[in-house]
Amino acid sequence: MGLLGRWLQFAGKKTEFGSCQAATGGRQDLRTDHRCSLCSSALCTLNRPAGGGGQASSRGIRCTHSWRVWANQRGVVVQEFISAIDIGTTKVCALTAAVTHDSLGNLALRVLGVGQAVSRGIRRGVVVNVKDATACVGEAVEKCEEDAGQPILSAYVGIAGSHISTLNSKGMSPVDHRQGVTGQDMQRALEGARAVALPENQEVIHTIARQWTVDSQGAVQYPLGMSAYRLEVDAHIVTGSSTAVNNLAQCVLSHNIDIDELVLEPLASNEAVLRPEERQMGVAVVDLGGGTTDIAIFIEDGLCHTVILDLGGNHLTNDLAVGLHAPFETAEELKLRYGTVLPDRVAADEKVWATVFGERSERSFSRRFISEILEARACEILEIVREKLEESGYYDRLPAGIVLTGGSSQLHGLTELGREIFGMPVRVGAPSARLPIGGLTRTLLSPTYATSVGLLLWGLHEDARSVHRRFSADSPSPHTQWVGQAMRWLRNLLPG
Ligand SMILES: Nc1ncnc2c1ncn2[C@@H]1O[C@H](COP(=O)(O)OP(=O)(O)OP(=O)(O)O)[C@@H](O)[C@H]1O
Ligand SMILES: [Mg+2]
Repeated sequence: MGLLGRWLQFAGKKTEFGSCQAATGGRQDLRTDHRCSLCSSALCTLNRPAGGGGQASSRGIRCTHSWRVWANQRGVVVQEFISAIDIGTTKVCALTAAVTHDSLGNLALRVLGVGQAVSRGIRRGVVVNVKDATACVGEAVEKCEEDAGQPILSAYVGIAGSHISTLNSKGMSPVDHRQGVTGQDMQRALEGARAVALPENQEVIHTIARQWTVDSQGAVQYPLGMSAYRLEVDAHIVTGSSTAVNNLAQCVLSHNIDIDELVLEPLASNEAVLRPEERQMGVAVVDLGGGTTDIAIFIEDGLCHTVILDLGGNHLTNDLAVGLHAPFETAEELKLRYGTVLPDRVAADEKVWATVFGERSERSFSRRFISEILEARACEILEIVREKLEESGYYDRLPAGIVLTGGSSQLHGLTELGREIFGMPVRVGAPSARLPIGGLTRTLLSPTYATSVGLLLWGLHEDARSVHRRFSADSPSPHTQWVGQAMRWLRNLLPG
C-alpha cells in the first residue's frame, strides 16, 4: 500500500472506494457507489484498495480510466483529471491530464489537452491588468478544453513575482500514541507553523514541511504512522501580497474554474526537472523566464529556500532593442535565432539580418555585438543569482549544482557561462520522458514548459506534507465583497 493509502488508513478514512465521474470531469468528494460515465449505466466498484488510486470494474466490464484518491483538510477527494494553468509574463499555458497508472500500479498522468496564449496584462510575473490577463487565461483555457474534449473545473495555478517572501517556522501537534502519527496530526503541526505574524497585506501561500521531529528524534522524513507523543515540524512558509494573490486568482475564478492550489513557480518547475538524487544531495533550480528568475534550493529532499527576482529574458531583449536601435520584436527574433552569450566564439565580422518594422528591406547587424550585449546582461543575472544563493547560506551545500530551466535557459552558451560564474556543475533541465506523464508532445519537452508540466506533477503528488488555501469560484470575489459591504452600509442608512 502506498504512503497515501497508509495515510488514509491512519487518518481513520475508508480505504476502499468506488468512483467514476468522467461526465462532469474534475474532482468530487468521495461517494461509495455511483455510475461510471465511461461504461454508461453499470455500477462501478473499485477492484483494488486505495493505495493512491484505482481502476473500476463493473459487471465484468473493466473501465480503463483511473483516479487519484487523497485526503486533505477538506476530507477525502477523488480526482480523475488534473489541470494546470501557468500564467507567465510571456505566455499563458493550460494543461489537462487524466490520472492513470503505470505498469507497476503507480499513479501517473496522461496529457489530454494543451492550450496556450500570448500573455497580456502581466508584468514581471504579476497581474497589472486584470481584464487583459483574464482574457488571455480564457484563450488558453478554451484551447485546452477543446483539445482535451472536456471542461477545466479546477486547476493548479502558478504564482511568482517579487512580492513573494519566505520564512521558516516551527509547529507542533500532540499525538495519540496508541494510534501513532496521523495525517491530521501532520496537518495540525503545519497549521501551527503557519500561524506567524505577517506584515499587513501579506498572506500565506504555502506551508511546506522541510523536516519532522517525532518526540526527540529529529530529521524524520515522513512521520506518518510512527509511534509518538509529540510531533514537530520545521516548515517553509511562502507568503505573497494579498492584492497580487487576489488579482491572479480573479483571472482564473472569473472563468468558473476553482483553484486547487496556488503553487510557487520554482516549486512546480522542480517537480519537472530535478532528479530525486539531486534533491537529496543539494541542488538549486533556477527558472529563467521572461519576466522573473525564480530560485529554489533543495537539500536532503527538503525545500530550504526560495527567491523570486524581477529579472528575465525580456531584459535581455530590451537591452538588445536599445543597443541595436531596433523594435522589441526584431530584438526578440535576433535573440532567438542568433543569440549566444559567448561572443568569443563569434567571428568579428559575422553579420545577421532581420526585418525592422517600417523598413522595406532587411537590416544587417553584427552578431558579435548582439552577443556582447546578451553576455553582459546574462552575467548580471547569474551574478545576482549567485549573490542570492550566498546570502541564503546554502551556497556551499549544493554538490549537485545548479539546474537552469525556463525559456531563457535555452540561450546558447548559458551553461558554460553559469559554470564559470557559479564554479559548480550547471545543466539545463526540461520535462523528460522519465516523468510519470504520458502524452508529452515534443513542444512540452522544453524548459519553457517546466512550470506548466511541474504544476500537473505538483497536483499528482499533493499530500499531507503541505497545507494551503483553496479558492472557489463560488466564493465572492474581493470586488463583489466590497460591493456587498457598500450595499449593506447604504441599506442601513435607508429608513425602514
Ligand atoms: N531558444 C531561446 N533562446 C533564448 N531565449 C529564449 C529561447 N526560447 C525562449 N526564450 C526566452 O524565454 C522567455 C520566456 O520564457 P518562459 O516561457 O519560461 O517565461 P514565462 O513563463 O512566460 O515568464 P515568467 O515565468 O518569467 O513570468 C522569453 O524571454 C524568450 O525570449
Ligand atoms: Mg514561467
